[in-house]
Amino acid sequence: MHHFNYKNGTLFAEGIDLDQLSKKVGTPFYCYSEATLRRHVQVFQRAFGGANMLTAFSVKANSNIAVLKILASEGAGADVVSGGELKRARAAGIASDKIVFSGVGKTAQELTLALQENIHQFNVESEPELNLLNEIAISLGTKAPIAFRVNPDVSAGGHEKIATGVAEVKFGIPWARAREFYAKANAMAGIEVKGVDVHIGSQISDLAPFETAFKKVAVLVTQLREDGCTIDRIDLGGGLGIPYGDSPVNPPHPDEYAKMIRQIADPLNVQLIFEPGRMIVGNAGILVSKVVYVKEGAERQFLIIDSAMNDLIRPALYDAYHNLIPVKEPTTNERQDYDIVGPICETGDRFARDRDMPVLKQDDLVAFMSAGAYGAVQASEYNTRPLIPEVLVNGDQYCIIRPRPDYEDILKRDIIPDWIK
Ligand code: LLP
Repeated sequence: MHHFNYKNGTLFAEGIDLDQLSKKVGTPFYCYSEATLRRHVQVFQRAFGGANMLTAFSVKANSNIAVLKILASEGAGADVVSGGELKRARAAGIASDKIVFSGVGKTAQELTLALQENIHQFNVESEPELNLLNEIAISLGTKAPIAFRVNPDVSAGGHEKIATGVAEVKFGIPWARAREFYAKANAMAGIEVKGVDVHIGSQISDLAPFETAFKKVAVLVTQLREDGCTIDRIDLGGGLGIPYGDSPVNPPHPDEYAKMIRQIADPLNVQLIFEPGRMIVGNAGILVSKVVYVKEGAERQFLIIDSAMNDLIRPALYDAYHNLIPVKEPTTNERQDYDIVGPICETGDRFARDRDMPVLKQDDLVAFMSAGAYGAVQASEYNTRPLIPEVLVNGDQYCIIRPRPDYEDILKRDIIPDWIK
């Protein structure tokens, strides 16, 4: 459920009229609903009742510090994948003991920073990473709390670019070697073994692959305990999908997900860590854009809008579906098939093909739904298009939580060497 609804013929974000807001902020822009963000994290946490759990929001999905602060105030921690995300999480006031650090390529500098911050857990993904972490921890006179991210070799469907739990990808340690790696880590002076971590992919719309992977994790926990490791937490990653508007995918409710997990995990008596990203922020954000031209092509009608693949890359990169709706509710039933494209000079700059839409005209406003996750964070300045603003709405107030840079801000970052006249 989200708080983007038509009122008297105009799309609102909570109590804010998006037509009016567009006039003040200019298009395109991202708009987030605070009530929706709060609701999603509450629904997720409530699904687990009184379980000993940590919701470590996956910062990669939306890293705006205002968003992180809202989630922190609901008790969430953070799953970070870089030194920069760690800094953001701390800047948002997220306590160190609620931060987990994932990723296959953590550098010495990032590991040092995270050790100095005393984070809750390193999700270690390889033997060389373990060795480096151990060395750095010893040099700092501390011990690094770790879980290995194990690769359960479970296929979770979804787009191949975001499947992470099959054996052929770069993620996690090979399942067959897990006990060997844990034994090694358990004997290291700079390492404290704490848990097991797994993350199998993103936008997963079916409980079965989760269940298969989590059951494997439960077996491994028992074996590791027999081997003499203290395992008091399991990190089950993120990946629960969301409904993307009209798309046929209907992911399970967090209540069903929680029920399945508790059946597997309760007997283990561990802290449950989750790294949800998309399901918290995805449907809490939209991208508002304006029709620049309606172009009659040789074979198709093009709706050329002022946002592009540099602002929202998901359709171009993953063939992702985003529902697009007009900000002014249509007053007729007239419809038209459009190719919805941006101004960037590549054919791939296309949001949708042959999309059946209400008839639109120049200067009409439209909104991409479900754009709160992996939207603004994956934006770039390709074609020297300024990063678009992010606006947060709370009831009838709004705040621009990241402003649009002007051209000067962009140009002044380039440095001309003095040998070029
Ligand atoms: N934990 C780890 C270790 C991850 O790699 C990810 C996402 C998550 C948690 C959060 O997954 P979520 O709950 O959001 O599904 N840019 C792509 C998605 C990439 C996901 C990468 N990893 C997209 O726009 O669909």
